[in-house]
Amino acid sequence: MDPTIARVRDLLHQASSIAALTGAGISAESGIPTFRGPGGVWRTYRAENLATPEAFANDPKLVWEWYNFRRGIIAGVKPNAGHRALAELEQRKENFSLITQNVDGLHDRAGSRNLLKIHGDIWTLRCTVCARERSATATPLPELPPHCACGGMERPGVVWFGEGLPGQIWIDAQRAAQHAQMLLVIGTSAVVYPAAGLAALAKRSGAAVVEINIAETPVSAQADYSLRGPAAEILPQLVP
Ligand code: OAD
Repeated sequence: MDPTIARVRDLLHQASSIAALTGAGISAESGIPTFRGPGGVWRTYRAENLATPEAFANDPKLVWEWYNFRRGIIAGVKPNAGHRALAELEQRKENFSLITQNVDGLHDRAGSRNLLKIHGDIWTLRCTVCARERSATATPLPELPPHCACGGMERPGVVWFGEGLPGQIWIDAQRAAQHAQMLLVIGTSAVVYPAAGLAALAKRSGAAVVEINIAETPVSAQADYSLRGPAAEILPQLVP
């Protein structure tokens, strides 16, 4: 085993409080395209046309078609060894928080329960009139845009560019980063704020920051350990 991976594995074993922040890279090996980098979604589509409140106000059907398409991709894939290792870590550690920017639900499907979904969930629909939320897993959705029982149009239960993060979940995520002895930053380009600020927050609070990514990111310079490689290969070595 790589000596740095062995060192991080030992530190992880000793740490009593751990937090992890995941991004699209952890789901890449399941077959879900990331947003940035080679093959990234934002190389083909413009975020402002699909993932903003303005885009939805302008053309809700187009936005819904895109989300419906992504739901179809996600429904056809499975969690990978990286997701499973984090679910296993939750079982082993009393104090473990998993903060995810991913809306795909693969952490849930791998068995993680203590999950802070700071960018929402693609399987949740929220009414634009009464704000009621419901879970809807049909792919494709039978009606686009879907409607709430109150008659209002529903939107995807995700956070778009220009929107705030869900209040309590974000407070809990910051608290987890502040109280962790170790923060794992996995498969995120760390350019979207405020999520990207969690690594610096954890570092300031005394945590060891461990990055797991196939490429360098702005977090790499602050990380105590940078593990270069696919999350689905590295995480199972940390949680054997
Ligand atoms: P990005 O697509 O920006 O970044 C993916 C990261 O994963 C990159 O740093 C890659 O190098 C890395 N990566 C790719 N494959 C990997 C693998 N197999 N193992 C480990 N790392 C790998 O995705 P996010 O950082 O999650 O926001 O993007 C942040 C937010 O921007 C998303 O939540 C979404 C997006 O627009 C909203 O929807 C609000």
